[in-house]
Amino acid sequence: MLDLTSFETPHHPRSHVNSLVRLHNPFTEDQRLEAAIKAGWNVFQFPSEMLCGGDLLSDSGTTTMTTEQFSALVLGDESYGSNWGYFQLLETIGETFGIDTDEWEIYLFHQARAAEHALFTHIAGEDLIVPANSFFDTTRANAEANKIDARDLVCQNFNDDPDYPFKGNLDIDALGQLLEEHCEQIPLVISTITNNTGGGQPVSMENIRATRALCDAHGIPFFLDACRFAENAWFIKEREEGYADKSVAAIAKEELSFCDGFTISFKKDGLANMGGALAIRKDSRLTERYPDIFDALRDHQILVEGHPTYGGLSGRDIMTITVGLQTVIKEEYLKGRIGQVYEFGAYLKKLGIPVIEPFGGHAVYIDMDRFFEGTSMEKGDFGGISLTALLLLKGVRLCELGAFAFGTYDPGTENETFPPRNFVRAAVPRNKYEIQDLYYVADCIKGLYDQRDSIPKAVPVWGKDKALRHFKARFELVPQSHNAAVKQYASAVS
Ligand code: F0G
Repeated sequence: MLDLTSFETPHHPRSHVNSLVRLHNPFTEDQRLEAAIKAGWNVFQFPSEMLCGGDLLSDSGTTTMTTEQFSALVLGDESYGSNWGYFQLLETIGETFGIDTDEWEIYLFHQARAAEHALFTHIAGEDLIVPANSFFDTTRANAEANKIDARDLVCQNFNDDPDYPFKGNLDIDALGQLLEEHCEQIPLVISTITNNTGGGQPVSMENIRATRALCDAHGIPFFLDACRFAENAWFIKEREEGYADKSVAAIAKEELSFCDGFTISFKKDGLANMGGALAIRKDSRLTERYPDIFDALRDHQILVEGHPTYGGLSGRDIMTITVGLQTVIKEEYLKGRIGQVYEFGAYLKKLGIPVIEPFGGHAVYIDMDRFFEGTSMEKGDFGGISLTALLLLKGVRLCELGAFAFGTYDPGTENETFPPRNFVRAAVPRNKYEIQDLYYVADCIKGLYDQRDSIPKAVPVWGKDKALRHFKARFELVPQSHNAAVKQYASAVS
């Protein structure tokens, strides 16, 4: 019988003084159950104030800003045009990414997805394919909304070699073959650093260089999704031959030196709560195929975001991003950041939880196929959704990035597809939690792992056929077929 009250959580939930969580954890499990049912067991719909155990839904925009950022924030210039902070930000972008901003078109947006939306809208065309190591959910959705085939080409070492240090790499052989066969259909190639969908794994400099060389050979522009460029640079320093003595700041510049353009969410390695950008080299090959692209993007930005010098951001957001970019490449910051995620992952592993190794930079990923091995839970039972749903009752929130988030359902044919990987992600917000907080989260996962036979299936009752369905769907929890012991949950939701 599934018993959420009995399992041991030696590390108790703490009061997160730097989060919005109330100080005295006033919610009971019954109140959380009521809220979870009201939310259709969808973690995105669950009230965050009830998450006193740890909110690891996302590392995006959830950072606790530093005192330097808060100090800069009050200097935000809210002028409509050419605010002071804009020029500070341009200078910092130039310095951080090693680019001459006069030679680049830089478009500020309120988030990276707005930047992706602009880019994909203006390169849309018949039968296009955009290959990447992996697309994140909104990136894929923006490509697909423009009828672009978003093709994941993550390296094969992911499955073959548990210790491979750069599992985020793009599969160079597969890209070479695709470019040979479909070059005309490919407007650009993307590498996502680090590879969020693929377990938060880094991409090596060698792989970035090889991707660039292949793109050069075929005259195709190469873009980076640079959301976690600093964490990726840290891993290159730590793991790639020849980089141990280089500074992370220099490695970050080198990463960017290979690309024709990049998108970035400042909500990750900008250490800010909001912000994104699209940057394209003025002499990039993109203009050969799309000669009017810069005008089109600028008009797009003005129409849907704002004047080019604030682009969907307030003056104070711009200030926090400027200081965030200066902080994020500091090695003392990255050492603590990546070290904390590592410690959390190592503790989960010690508890026997099947985690993806090596650990990534911003999150620990739990393999749901291995988690439910030996139980009657099948892929289409969405055990990852059930795990995240039940954790809500302990005040803990994780995110399913697997069979449900990246699967599809066609109501016409009743055909279901499942992605190759089936993860639940525990994303660690930057500068927010202490390791003891993360141990509590791990203890809760362990409590459910020990009772995995009794974890109910998640049956989507609404939204299974929708795009981006994980944000919207509603579920009921029903017992795994051989086990009636969780009827309490089934009856609670019916
Ligand atoms: N690219 C990657 C690799 C991302 O991880 C995200 C967001 C985006 C693009 C979009 O950025 O949120 O500013 O529009 N990832 C968040 C996450 C939401 O939880 O991993 P955005």
